[in-house]
Amino acid sequence: MTDAERQALLEVMGIPNWILRRPLPGLASEPGPVESPWDALEARVRECNRCPLHAGRTQTVFGTGSREADWLIIGEAPGEQEDLQGEPFVGRAGQLLNEMIRALGLSRSGVYIANILKCRPPDNRDPSPEEARACEGYLHQQIGLIQPAIILAVGRVAAQNLLQTTVAIGKLRGTVHEYRGVPLIVTYHPAYLLRAPLEKRKAWDDLKLALKIYRTPKNQIVT
Ligand code: URA
Repeated sequence: MTDAERQALLEVMGIPNWILRRPLPGLASEPGPVESPWDALEARVRECNRCPLHAGRTQTVFGTGSREADWLIIGEAPGEQEDLQGEPFVGRAGQLLNEMIRALGLSRSGVYIANILKCRPPDNRDPSPEEARACEGYLHQQIGLIQPAIILAVGRVAAQNLLQTTVAIGKLRGTVHEYRGVPLIVTYHPAYLLRAPLEKRKAWDDLKLALKIYRTPKNQIVT
């Protein structure tokens, strides 16, 4: 049916001011498939230039794992290997993180792993407060989409940035914190544990605490 024929028919039916709000199927301007919030967020991160780190990256490191995970593990920032491969925790520290995840009775694909920063800082220096602030909205959106039951902050940089504190990691361990309504446990960064293997015992204590909190009904968790 042509537009003129349609208009004539509508006038006969007493609907002269009929407006096509959405293109009909098959017409050139038909909208494409609706983008998922994850795809939209990932695309925004890929194009991000909110801080100077974008200039030096090979690629952004968005995060990996199950988007329905109960466990969200947050590290610091991509290193050299992560920047090259586009995935968090793929180097030696990543292998130890995988062992820590297995010690929790989980697998890497069953948790979600992200970082404070999506881009690699030069020479693996600590993220600046400005860089962390520029990036935090992306992590907030990931948390909103995942809705994890528990967050494990690995390392000083992740813990201090998430908790907005300068308290030493040794003092942040061993208690239950909260981040955006989600219980948060602090443990050592696997890269540190590679340098100080005697601290692995404390990290194991942290994982046991995290498991205990994970199994505690939310209304009974005291932070
Ligand atoms: N260290 C981190 O904190 N994150 C990574 O992705 C790799 C190393």
